[in-house]
Amino acid sequence: MKAKIHAPTPANLRRLAAALRQGELVAIPTETVYGLAAHALDAKACRAIFRAKRRPANDPLIVHVLDLAHAEELADFNPPARRLARRFWPGPLTLVLPKHACVPGIVTSGGPTVAIRAPAHPLARRLLQAANIPLAAPSANLFGYISPTNAAHVSEGLGSRIPHILDGGACAVGVESTVLDMTNPKKPRVLRPGAVTVAQLEKFLGVKVHGAKPRGASARQLAPGMLERHYSPRTPLVVGRIPTGPVPAGVAIVLLRQPSGKKTAKHVHWLSRRGALTEVARNLYDVLRRADAGRYRLIRVEPLPADASGLAAAINDRLKRAAKR
Ligand code: TXA
Ligand code: MG
Repeated sequence: MKAKIHAPTPANLRRLAAALRQGELVAIPTETVYGLAAHALDAKACRAIFRAKRRPANDPLIVHVLDLAHAEELADFNPPARRLARRFWPGPLTLVLPKHACVPGIVTSGGPTVAIRAPAHPLARRLLQAANIPLAAPSANLFGYISPTNAAHVSEGLGSRIPHILDGGACAVGVESTVLDMTNPKKPRVLRPGAVTVAQLEKFLGVKVHGAKPRGASARQLAPGMLERHYSPRTPLVVGRIPTGPVPAGVAIVLLRQPSGKKTAKHVHWLSRRGALTEVARNLYDVLRRADAGRYRLIRVEPLPADASGLAAAINDRLKRAAKR
């Protein structure tokens, strides 16, 4: 199999919607990262996602829908969850809620809850509309590797393993959605930080929102599949102050902002022009992938400011996991 990269023409969108309805896999752009989509109510199609990604079955999938009305067909919404959906959808917020019987066990790794979000990317929305089915979609990368933020990234990892990629250009957000467990609305818990921040959620809900890792709880108890090592380049990566002076041979440097001066060495990469966090997030995976392709023995990434909250928390979370060996 060699994935065909489809331009987003109306005819192609119609064809891909039909392919999804028939149980085929299609990699699709979302505003966060590209997802590997399948008919969420078709257990066989969803099984193919796990095969293509080499993803272990205990790592549940996120289901993508057009809006709250469609989401309520799949999960039990409590009033605060409903308010969150009205406020933050479409957008990078995934809600974990009790699932309805129609959601196959393969999607939730056998668990009683399902993760749902309404993506904001116009092509994802047009495809959801045309297919008129919920789409299960994890990030469209081989399990454990850096998530894809453009069609070429998807093709590099999964090109020989899936039939279709819808090309929607580069993702605007660049890191995965915030995953919020709302099964107990009195105790919302962020399972994965993302572009919708804990501060935003607390302000909106008016209750304390618990962080990704309460003391004592292991990652496994918290969310199946939220592995410590994830989003990882093949090259060892460390996050730490960049020493001044000459860089040892074989080391790639990833700076937060473009260095001043006219000429920079080939091994020096940067995540933004002036340090804006939204730009850092948008470029993060592409820069890490390029550094990883450069045959270095080490990638050294400049750390974000220590008081990192908000989007910086999401970026730090991904860097920490990328650095885990
Ligand atoms: O931005 C995103 O969320 C992207 C785009 C494609 O929507 N998707 C994504 O999916 O990042 P994935 O599979 O790479 O990460 C989803 C994570 C899983 O690793 C899992 O930990 C968590 O969401 N998750 C899914 N279902 C869950 C559930 N029922 N309970 C707790 N966590 C769940
Ligand atoms: Mg993923």
